[in-house]
Amino acid sequence: MTLTLTGGAGRNAGPILHGPEIDAVADALRAGHYGHGPLTEHFEHALAAFLGVADVVTVASGTTAMHLALLAAGVGPKHEVIVPSMTFCACVQAIVATGARPRFVEVDPATLCVRADDVLAAATPATAAVLPVLFSGRAVDLTGIQQQLDERGITIVEDAAQAFGSDLAGRLIGTNPKLMTCFSFGPTKNLTCGEGGAIVPRTAEEADLLRRLRTVGIAQSLAQRAEATSYEVAGFGLRAHLSSLSAAIGLVQLARFDDARTRRRQLWAAYAAALAGTPDVQLTDVDIAHTVPFNLVVQVPNRDRVFHRMRQAGIGVGVHYPPNHLQPAFARWSTSLPATEQIGRQVISLPFHPSLNSGNLQQVVTALRDALTA
Ligand SMILES: Cc1ncc(COP(=O)(O)O)c(C=O)c1O
Repeated sequence: MTLTLTGGAGRNAGPILHGPEIDAVADALRAGHYGHGPLTEHFEHALAAFLGVADVVTVASGTTAMHLALLAAGVGPKHEVIVPSMTFCACVQAIVATGARPRFVEVDPATLCVRADDVLAAATPATAAVLPVLFSGRAVDLTGIQQQLDERGITIVEDAAQAFGSDLAGRLIGTNPKLMTCFSFGPTKNLTCGEGGAIVPRTAEEADLLRRLRTVGIAQSLAQRAEATSYEVAGFGLRAHLSSLSAAIGLVQLARFDDARTRRRQLWAAYAAALAGTPDVQLTDVDIAHTVPFNLVVQVPNRDRVFHRMRQAGIGVGVHYPPNHLQPAFARWSTSLPATEQIGRQVISLPFHPSLNSGNLQQVVTALRDALTA
């Protein structure tokens, strides 16, 4: 039984709540392990099995996943990290948290993802990492420049916050051993834990380092600490683990992920069909056959006017994203990015969540057409 969330067309995003999450959280509460505990480790194993990888390290959020992955890649104050400006500000904050500088690049207006050529062109001797963002869940293929990045000592840390379950030519995101993948399990993501995130490390050593970084620098595991009178603080670390209560939600969501995948793809396809032939609406190309879509972003003329008219009509539109290079916090790293600036003036996100029925969808599309022509 899936529980229906409230909001309909008035809500921009929301989780799929399958139902058993409620009992799973109650059981976790009764079990009395609220922080990092056996359920967290169980969830890590389940994620690794789902992806078919050796290890997954869970953390408190997608932002934390990127921060710790960059630290594990050795990124620090002398470095630059290449990142699209067209992304959530969390990516840039994660870079700044390491002491490194963001180097903003353009995205392809059709996909809203970075192009390999632009990434290579932006690399400098100070570049230590590149953070491609898998926009709406679409894979970013940098395999063609992997060798050049390797030769220059540049690590790919992919922001797959929106891309859990998507694939690149049949290979699940998170399974490329040459890069680190960061997932978010935030409230509206393809798989939610309430709040949470995870990193797929490249090696066992990297997994150990990430576990230390998320556990205030302590080297020993939960099981080892239970048997010892002391522990070793082996280096820097933050309180950044995933709670057992969140893991309990994630385990239920993971077991029912097929359902979430199907419903997200069906909703995206229904929108694509309903919007086909609508003049002035450019639908982001998410490569739907390989993507579990997180949201539905279109570009329209007179976006601000359309946005306000749709809000007045009770439609829960949003904007993903105001460009980061124009944000006051990142002004010192700003550069001219005309394509991104134009996209930033045109993007609008339509309501996209599992409780949206076909009537709601029609309501959204009609309101969009009215707003465009009014
Ligand atoms: C593209 C992108 N990157 C990073 C994040 C950060 O993830 P979290 O909210 O779990 O910290 C999000 C989600 O909000 C996102 O959509």
